[in-house]
Amino acid sequence: MTKQQRMQAHETGRPNAQIDARFAADVLQGLSRSQKTLPCAWLYDLRGSELFVEITGLEEYYPTRSEIGTLKRSAREIARQIGAHATVVEFGSGSSHKTPLLLEALEAPAAYVPIDISAEFLYESLKPLQARFPALHVEPVVADFSKAEDMRKLRKLLPADGRNVGFFPGSTIGNFTPPEATLFLRQAGDALGQGSLMLIGVDSTTDPEILVPAYDDARKVTAAFNLNLLVRINRELSGNFRLGDFRHEARFNPEQSRVEMHLVSLIDQDVWVQGSRFQFKAGESIHTENSYKYGEQKFAQLCAAAGWQEIGKWMEAGGERGNFGVHLLRCGAAA
Ligand SMILES: C[S@@+](CC[C@H](N)C(=O)[O-])C[C@H]1O[C@@H](n2cnc3c(N)ncnc32)[C@H](O)[C@@H]1O
Repeated sequence: MTKQQRMQAHETGRPNAQIDARFAADVLQGLSRSQKTLPCAWLYDLRGSELFVEITGLEEYYPTRSEIGTLKRSAREIARQIGAHATVVEFGSGSSHKTPLLLEALEAPAAYVPIDISAEFLYESLKPLQARFPALHVEPVVADFSKAEDMRKLRKLLPADGRNVGFFPGSTIGNFTPPEATLFLRQAGDALGQGSLMLIGVDSTTDPEILVPAYDDARKVTAAFNLNLLVRINRELSGNFRLGDFRHEARFNPEQSRVEMHLVSLIDQDVWVQGSRFQFKAGESIHTENSYKYGEQKFAQLCAAAGWQEIGKWMEAGGERGNFGVHLLRCGAAA
């Protein structure tokens, strides 16, 4: 990356004020809908990000163990396909816990560009990574990867030599609806460039007996993660949600092949946010997250519709519950 590109990278780092304005708009609009809905990106303030890390260590939460197992086993083979001097662009980097598995296997990676909406957590998480890879150029970007505007800025700061590799682990792609996922992949392809690659974690598990506990664990860490969104609204948007009047619920929706997280009102109540009143009936919910589960064919169709070809796929070799895969995609028509 040139010096000028590095300066542009810092400009792309979104001032928190803009993120805050989007948060307020999403909350006021989302709570006004007949099915109250909040985008799951807002679950990740500093506390939410810490709670998510705790979730990834839970017995019931198979995706992280499964994906790490696959990456450990297959990183060398994946790295061979990626080649030398790649710029690794991680979408939703969070704790960056999985990143060293890829960086260590790659031959002379050129740079690491972690992108996350959770600014404070992003910068904190990079300290151990930078200590482990002192020679690596690291360029953090605070941005919303679901926004075309943010992805266009990302495009400007990345090298245009086809050596960019997107890294999108954690089955975060499942948080988008299928049309949103197609749009994301298309915009990521525009940002990374033709010929670039993308390593992506995809959950294909469809057994509700495995899925529901993974999103509603016995220790109630996922419940705390979900309810923390109300704490965030109270703190940042002058809300008056009473946490004891809501409960966390995880539902499997077989028609949509997705797990849904909801916050269910236990009573009839009014809640105020930034001076606006929102009415809840007992049993009414705020839909806070989707986690879509893709069969092999469905995922391949999604990629093709967005201009990506699957060129490799690795699965956990038994022992772990669920059905989690790591897929390598190439942007553009088949070579
Ligand atoms: C499911 S977690 C995955 C974290 C990590 N990559 C992993 O595999 O464990 C999703 C991550 O993406 C970030 N995130 C969610 N929505 C985002 C968005 N629209 N733009 C940027 N980051 C987002 C969250 O802050 C969080 O760190």
